[in-house]
Amino acid sequence: MSGERGHAIGDRIDMSNGRFGRRVVLLAAVAFLVGGAAAGAAWYFQDSPGIPGDPADLDQVAFGSRVYARICANCHGVELDGQLGWEKPLKDGTRLAPAHSAAGETWQHSDAKLFEVVKVGGETLQPDGKVSRMPGFGDKLTDDEIWAVIAFIKSTWPTNVQEVQQGASEDEPVAN
Ligand code: HEC
Repeated sequence: MSGERGHAIGDRIDMSNGRFGRRVVLLAAVAFLVGGAAAGAAWYFQDSPGIPGDPADLDQVAFGSRVYARICANCHGVELDGQLGWEKPLKDGTRLAPAHSAAGETWQHSDAKLFEVVKVGGETLQPDGKVSRMPGFGDKLTDDEIWAVIAFIKSTWPTNVQEVQQGASEDEPVAN
């Protein structure tokens, strides 16, 4: 019957179109992915949320040192040596501002954790959500400023300490 034959031919045409179409779709998908990746990379490197503080980036470190002097030095000390007696918890269970130098414990935290602490506050360090004397700076500092200050703090550590902290960061990558 002509109707059925027509249908069968139609199917065959559809199939070859399908194969051709699939190739076009595949190419389009590849182009889309490559383009998307490029756009994504441009976004990632330009407006940073996500660029972990890089102690080798001298501009970022210089910028971060200014943020540190303006905001953090009050509590953590101009020399990054923390508040006097910071090693001991206070009677109420809270802690004084610790040293950020290699003599402190800041280097034991991953980039992701450091960013979170500065953005949200010291509560994120307390497993049971206890009060902390470390304020969050999410409403005062941009993500760029937070990464810069982290870059500055890292730049004061010797290379071997930087490497250990980098290992911690690789175990707990920054979520984007
Ligand atoms: C008002 C005082 C104060 C200011 C200002 C302050 N901090 Fe803190 N910070 C603290 C205290 C107190 C802690 C300890 C918090 C805890 O253990 O609960 C702390 C802890 C931290 C930690 C965790 C360190 C560790 O060794 O565990 C980081 C990182 C940190 N601060 C970064 C900063 C940065 C960066 C700034 C400036 C943008 C800043 N802080 C400004 C008081 C302050």
